[in-house]
Amino acid sequence: MISKASPTECFVYITLPDETEFVTAGRFELTTDRNGVATGRFIYGKSYLERNNAVPLDPIELKLRKGTYQTTILKGVFGAIRDASPDYWGRRVIEKYVGKTELGEIDYLLHSPDDRAGALGFGLNREPPAPRRKFNQTIELERLQALADLIIADDELPDGAEAAQVQGLTVAGTSMGGARPKAVVEDDDALWIAKFRHPEDKWNDARVEHAMLLLARECGLQVAESKVVTVGAHDAVLVKRFDRENTKAGYRRGRMLSALTLLRADENYQNRETLSYVLLVEELRRISSQPGIDAPELFRRMCFNALISNVDDHPRNHAVIAMSTDWKLSPAYDLTPSTPISIERRDLALECGDMGRYAHAENLLSQSTRFLLEPDAAKNAIDSIEETVKSKWYDIARREGVTEKDCKRIASAFAYPGFRLEILTQ
Ligand SMILES: Nc1ncnc2c1ncn2[C@@H]1O[C@H](COP(=O)(O)OP(=O)(O)OP(=O)(O)O)[C@@H](O)[C@H]1O
Ligand SMILES: [Mg+2]
Repeated sequence: MISKASPTECFVYITLPDETEFVTAGRFELTTDRNGVATGRFIYGKSYLERNNAVPLDPIELKLRKGTYQTTILKGVFGAIRDASPDYWGRRVIEKYVGKTELGEIDYLLHSPDDRAGALGFGLNREPPAPRRKFNQTIELERLQALADLIIADDELPDGAEAAQVQGLTVAGTSMGGARPKAVVEDDDALWIAKFRHPEDKWNDARVEHAMLLLARECGLQVAESKVVTVGAHDAVLVKRFDRENTKAGYRRGRMLSALTLLRADENYQNRETLSYVLLVEELRRISSQPGIDAPELFRRMCFNALISNVDDHPRNHAVIAMSTDWKLSPAYDLTPSTPISIERRDLALECGDMGRYAHAENLLSQSTRFLLEPDAAKNAIDSIEETVKSKWYDIARREGVTEKDCKRIASAFAYPGFRLEILTQ
C-alpha cells in the first residue's frame, strides 16, 4: 500500500540494448508549488553516464549529459516517462486496487508492474529490482477477463484470501497504455497484450481488430502479429509485443516513445494544430535511422486509417521503437474501424494535409513529399490501398470469424464515399 503522502521522487531504471536486466539510469523528481504548478526534474546518474553502452531515455528531449533537466510542461512529466505510465485503463485498475483516486503521477509509476511498454522501470531504491520472470499465462485469461469485468462494473473485488491473487492478476497489464481492458500474458515464450471484451462494444471487437491488422498487412503495412483466443463466452485479441524479445537470458526490451511525445503534445490536445501526421513525419525523419522506409510507411498508415474510418488514430496509437540503439517506426497496432453517420466527411484524429483532418484522397496527397513520396508514388499507394481495402475487407473479416451481422455493422467504415468526394473550388 502507498503511504499517505505521494512520493515526490523515484529512480528510473532502464534495460540497455542487448541486456535483460535493469540498470539505474537516473532520478526523477516531481514537485508542486503553492500555486499548483508542477515541476519535473530528471538527472542521469554519474555511473550511468560513465557506461559506454548508455542510451538516452529520449534522444531529443533527454540527451545523455550531466546536469538537471527541468520542465513545467505536461504537468512536469517528461514525455518518455509519461509514455511508460499507465493510461486510462491502468489507472482505473490501480485506483481500484489502492482504494483511492487521488494518486500522484509517481504513485502511478510505482504501482504499475514492470510489464509496461518500453524499456523503463521505476522504484524507490537506488538498486533496480531483479527482472520479472513470471508472467500470467494465457490459461489464466478467463479469470483475467472476469476481473476486468468486475472493474468495469465497478463491483467489489474479492477480498480476504484471494486478495493477493487479485493483486497479482489484476495489476498485470495495468502499465500498458490505452483505454480498453487488457492484460499482458505469456504464450509460446512470447509476451502478448490481451485485449478483452468491453460490455459497450458494438461488435466483436477482438475479431474485428484482428481482421483489421491482417487487412493492413495485406495492404503492405508493417503490422504487429495478432491472434484471437476464445475466453469463456467471449473472444479476446492477443497482440504480440514488439517491444520485447525473448532470449535465453530473459526478455530484451526496446525503448518506446509515442507520437504524443514526438510531437511534444499535451494530453488535453490544447494545441490541436500540433497533432498532425505532417508534423509527425518531420519528427520521424529526424529520429528514425531509416527515414526512407518509415516516412512512406507512415503515409500508408494514414491512408489506411482514412480508408477504414479509423478515427481513433490518436498520437498514442503511433510509436517509435529502439530495440537496439537505432530508432524506427513501430509496427502498426490498434487499428479499429468506425461508422460515423456522415458519408461525406470523416475526420482523422491527426491533421493529414492542407484540408486539415479530412479523410480525403486529395488531402492525403497534398503533403506527400514530406513523406518522401513523389506525387505519382503517393497516388499509386493510395489507389492500391483503396483497392485492397474494398476488395478484401469482407473476405478477411469473414475468414477470421467476424459474423455476417457484424460485417453489416462495420461495412460503412470502408472506403466511405467522402474519401473521393469531388471538391468544388470557388
Ligand atoms: N504489440 C505491441 N507491442 C508493444 N506495445 C504495444 C503493442 N500494442 C500496443 N502497445 C502499447 O500499448 C498501448 C495500448 O495498446 P492499444 O492502443 O492497442 O490499446 P487500446 O486500449 O485499444 O487503446 P485506445 O485507448 O487507443 O483505444 C499503446 O498505446 C502502445 O503504447
Ligand atoms: Mg490505443
